[in-house]
Amino acid sequence: MKLKPIVKWAGGKRQIINQLIEFMPKVYNTYYEPFFGGGALLLELSPKKAVINDINQELVAMYKTLKNKDDFKLMINKLKEHEAKHSKEYYYEIREVDRKDSFKDMPDWEKAARMIYLNKSCFNGLYRVNKKGYFNVPFGQKKEVKTFDEDNILNVHKYFKENDIEILLGDFKDVVVTAAKGDFVYFDPPYDPIEDKNSFTTYSDNGFNKADQERLATTFKELSNKGVYVMLSNHNTEFIRNLYKDFNIHIINAKRMINANAKGRGDVEEVIITNY
Ligand SMILES: C[S@@+](CC[C@H](N)C(=O)[O-])C[C@H]1O[C@@H](n2cnc3c(N)ncnc32)[C@H](O)[C@@H]1O
Repeated sequence: MKLKPIVKWAGGKRQIINQLIEFMPKVYNTYYEPFFGGGALLLELSPKKAVINDINQELVAMYKTLKNKDDFKLMINKLKEHEAKHSKEYYYEIREVDRKDSFKDMPDWEKAARMIYLNKSCFNGLYRVNKKGYFNVPFGQKKEVKTFDEDNILNVHKYFKENDIEILLGDFKDVVVTAAKGDFVYFDPPYDPIEDKNSFTTYSDNGFNKADQERLATTFKELSNKGVYVMLSNHNTEFIRNLYKDFNIHIINAKRMINANAKGRGDVEEVIITNY
């Protein structure tokens, strides 16, 4: 059974998964995904050995919980409790929790359950925090909420638990230092914005600016020189094409899935860049 993402995430790759697979190397050693997000590609492929990373602390807490037997059970029970208590008032009560000092001491499994519950019951299912780093998406108006697909979440748990999957929290650059010749790295960073008022480019409180895109291009080159297979997704902008002009640039059409304004959903050009 194919695994599916546990949370809906801005920039989710479900829609272009077949195109990504088409551009991947057929054989590789360790799989690396330094901007993991919802992790659609890894879950689709379910490699036996992988290193995944994100800079979003709550998201990483969720994946660590999905890997741990005891924490996983606690999280599922908490999710059932959230479903049973669900209402507009309850949503705002849970949403406000990250404003309190005690939030930092909340165990990972409880943070994970909170994140999944908010993701499933907030407006449009998007993750967004304000400048202070607090979750600030309004209530999604659902009367009832289903926070997980039982078969899928059990299979994802089993997959993380039974395979060699390392889960890290940090900057993309620090994660790939262990990548060696024959390994595969897939970079799916926050995209370089296209000049369009509808585009959604804010993923966490740490924005990803032009200097970060340049830093990423340098890391891409360093890995390439080591003989690592590297693949990267981004918007098809002049800035990105220029940064990767020495590599193979494939242009594809992708549907933009998360947008506050439904009219803004449409085709956008993306690139898949490879060094092989
Ligand atoms: C485009 S999303 C990834 C989408 C994902 N591939 C999916 O299918 O859902 C980008 C991710 O990069 C993370 N991120 C932002 N800056 C980062 C950094 N400097 N290092 C690592 N991750 C970062 C964000 O938290 C976000 O989850």
